[in-house]
Formats: sequence, C-alpha cells, structure tokens
Amino acid sequence: MKIAVIGPGKVGATLGRRFVEAGHEVTFGAPRPEQEKYDALRDLGCAVYSAEEAVEEVEIVLLAVPWAVAADVVGKLGGLPGRLIIDATNPIGEDFLDVDHASQHSGGETIAELIPKAQVIKAFNTVGVETMANPVYGDQRAALAVAGGDQAAKETVFKLARDIGFDPYDAGPLAAARTTERLAWHWIEISTIYGDRSDFAFALLRR
Ligand SMILES: NC(=O)c1ccc[n+]([C@@H]2O[C@H](COP(=O)([O-])OP(=O)(O)OC[C@H]3O[C@@H](n4cnc5c(N)ncnc54)[C@H](OP(=O)(O)O)[C@@H]3O)[C@@H](O)[C@H]2O)c1
Repeated sequence: MKIAVIGPGKVGATLGRRFVEAGHEVTFGAPRPEQEKYDALRDLGCAVYSAEEAVEEVEIVLLAVPWAVAADVVGKLGGLPGRLIIDATNPIGEDFLDVDHASQHSGGETIAELIPKAQVIKAFNTVGVETMANPVYGDQRAALAVAGGDQAAKETVFKLARDIGFDPYDAGPLAAARTTERLAWHWIEISTIYGDRSDFAFALLRR
C-alpha cells in the first residue's frame, strides 16, 4: 500500500521504517524536508516532502505529529477526501502537563471533524516507540487498539498492524478514541511519570 507518514519523528520514522520492511511504499511529510536528519529515511528509498506534497497519490496517511500542531497540519492537507487517515497522535503536550482529563471529546474525533470526507481510524497511539520497532515479546504480540467507524478502513489498519507484528483488536467506533487515548495516558503514567522504562506493552488474552 502507498502510505504517507506525516511527522517523521520518533513514531513516524519508526512506523514508516517498519512499513517499508513489510513491503509498503512510504513517503514522509516534514516541515523542513531538506534537513540532513532525514537522510536515513531517504536511504531506505523513501522520498521526504512537505506534508502537502507527501499526501498526493497515497491511499493511507499516518498522522504522527505533536498534538500542538496536529489541527494546523491536517487543515493544510486539502481535506483528504476518500483517504484513510490513521491518527497516531495523543492530545498531550510535551511536558505532559496540559492534558484535559475532563474532556468528553477525543483527539481522534477532533481530527475527523477537520476532514469529514476522510475515514479517520485511531491506532498506534497506545504503544510506545520501542514496541512499534518490535511488537513481539517472547511468544506474545503487543495488542493494538483500533477505533473507527468504517469497517473496511479498520480492516486495512488491522492488516497493516499485523504486517509489522502487532495483535490488533477492534476497540469500537471513533468515539472509543476517548477510551484508547486514556489507555495511552495510563501507559505514559506507568512508563514515564511513575516509572522509568518504556520497553513494555499491553497484551490481550483470549480464551
Ligand atoms: N513517542 C511515543 O512513544 C508515542 C507513542 C504513541 C503516540 N505518540 C504520539 O505521536 C505523535 C508524535 O510523537 P513523537 O514522539 O514521534 O514526536 P516527535 O519525535 O517530536 O516527532 C514529531 C514529528 O512531527 C514533525 N512535525 C512538526 N510539525 C510538523 C508539521 N507542521 N508538518 C509535518 N511534520 C511536523 C516533527 O518535525 P521536526 O522534527 O522537523 O519539527 C517531527 O518529525 C504525538 O502526538 C504523540 O503524542 C507518541
């Protein structure tokens, strides 16, 4: 599949690399695409463009930018009609202080409202970058919550997630991003705020 990764930082570069390894065609969208720090992505055979250019002619857009700029970035992408948008962001500031725990609305829904003609699926926001790099823990795979309204779009995300080693599960409609963003917050608390290691993930046990 053709995927544009918007925001080639820790999340975007890690997932983009994994998608390339799984045989997908990836372009990256960055604020200053000419920067040397993206040479490693170019060495993978990927083009690095502006975000607006990167989304041309792709089927899937992975949004992996800081929440502070997410609305601005999405607003410049031309509405993305008919495209599948995977929202990996969390509505959290860099210092973890400006989180609105009382909000009854999710970041995923906010993004979807900005691009009503796109299919927005919330995914990859509940796992850390170490797990994105390798979701396999012994004989278990990291679980991946996938929330969204369009079943076909969700199935595509399940496939992409499985392609790179995750155990994806259906977390419900996009409104369930309210829950999965809280799950991400729980992960951040135990990895970073109350703990000091991030090489772990949640698994889903089934009988
Ligand atoms: N880190 C995690 O473990 C983790 C896990 C799950 C979800 N998330 C979420 O994923 C998102 C990205 O996190 P991260 O840790 O990858 O952050 P990061 O390392 O700071 O990367 C953010 C990326 O977004 C780019 N960017 C900034 N403004 C942009 C713009 N206007 N257009 C295009 N790209 C732009 C940055 O480019 P420059 O470097 O050039 O500014 C950078 O490549 C956040 O919403 C975060 O909450 C993070």
